[in-house]
Amino acid sequence: MTFESAQALLALHGQSHLLRFWEELDAESRAGLLSDISAIDFDTVAKLHRTLVTHPAPEASATARIEPLPGQNPAPHVSAEYRRLGLAALAEGKCAAFLVAGGQGTRLGHDGPKGVFDIGLPSHKSLFQLQAERLLRIGTLCGKPVPWYIMTSRENHAATTGFFSQHAFFGLPENQIAFFPQAEFPLTDDTGKILLSDKGRIALGPNGNGGCFPALKASGALDDMRRRGVEWLFFYSVDNALVRVCDPEFLGFALKSGLPAASKAVPKVSPEERVGVFCRRDGKPSVIEYSEMPPEMCAARANDSAEGVLLYGAANIAVHLFRRDFLEQHADAALPWHVAHKKIPHVDAEGALVSPASPNAWKFELFMFDLFPMAPDMAVLEVERAAEFAPVKNRSGEGVSDSPATARALILDLHRLWAQQAGLPESRLAEKEVEVSPLTSYAGEGLAPDAFHEDATRTILSA
Ligand code: UTP
Repeated sequence: MTFESAQALLALHGQSHLLRFWEELDAESRAGLLSDISAIDFDTVAKLHRTLVTHPAPEASATARIEPLPGQNPAPHVSAEYRRLGLAALAEGKCAAFLVAGGQGTRLGHDGPKGVFDIGLPSHKSLFQLQAERLLRIGTLCGKPVPWYIMTSRENHAATTGFFSQHAFFGLPENQIAFFPQAEFPLTDDTGKILLSDKGRIALGPNGNGGCFPALKASGALDDMRRRGVEWLFFYSVDNALVRVCDPEFLGFALKSGLPAASKAVPKVSPEERVGVFCRRDGKPSVIEYSEMPPEMCAARANDSAEGVLLYGAANIAVHLFRRDFLEQHADAALPWHVAHKKIPHVDAEGALVSPASPNAWKFELFMFDLFPMAPDMAVLEVERAAEFAPVKNRSGEGVSDSPATARALILDLHRLWAQQAGLPESRLAEKEVEVSPLTSYAGEGLAPDAFHEDATRTILSA
């Protein structure tokens, strides 16, 4: 693309400001800017801004038929059977882990990939390290290394891969890990003008975690899975500090269901909790967002009784299993777009870098859960919140939920419970922080009192 053709294109779409600083740019920046401009689908940007920001259509749920899709709670002996089945499939190399880590983590406000974040555990392990060690442990339990695919973004790709190599891939075989970036989409201001991240660069953001499906295909990851004989992919987010990566019980549950998609859910803590829940929408498996649900739907209980469970009470925690053939079939499906209002640094009309204190930019995103309606049905496994869900979304602070501090406390509480279940007397636990390495135990299994050791300060007990 030439400068003149870019000028004409931008004028047509009311985005001429993107060339405002052209005279100040060196040759390399000019070439980069023209290349960014040539890759933008301006009609889609304008359409999404119109239909999602300035003239949003009424929620589709207003006319859809919504019905409950409850989570299943297997009896302990059934769970044990699922675990056996799942471990056997892992031992045959039939399942891989897939981390969506392309997000910008704007609420946490941490500079760099969220996975490198240290939530302040006694060991100071990063989120990436916790996940890697759980995968290592699963490899030990099933007797075979588990492949791991990691989706990054243009913004955090180099920092992510650099962190893994700096830590020698946390002991995982390097040839079992593949990184690839997802696609990006322009960020706009309130009037629909595309932002500049600096004078010669368009502000682009990753296109949402649902961008993982085309990225899995375009990167060759799906082909790689096929070559390796991987039949299932375990999807999860970077910021759940308690995620049981490639949980064998969940895999066994999905295998038994005979369906191409499965999810984990936790029970909603209250009708008002602001989470998406599983439902059927016009007969198709789906997730309904809190904002789409009228209060009476949030409060509806089984048997119309105050003691009944919430009918829409299975909260989505973004832990999914998809069968590879299903992903191959639907990787390029046109998913609906969503919009989020975020704080995005950018350069203003005078060329000054602005770090906004409140949301200033519209980010258009695709969501993973929008693939569910493509499945004939899906199975939802209800799991214990305190054992499996510790989101790290916001900066720690007084009364702030879903923060590094709350995630840290959840992990330490769970590990204290494991120590008690392993038979540690209260006298050894008193006033101590208990942390169990995932290399020692994945989900509380195999612990004995003599596995726990006090550190020199006598305040930390680790196993
Ligand atoms: P969030 O929805 O919490 O978004 O991501 P975020 O961008 O990380 O954080 P905020 O909203 O700016 O504070 C949930 C999961 O989806 C991934 C994230 O990395 C996280 O694992 N994600 C999100 C992507 O992989 N790509 C995206 O474009 C967005």
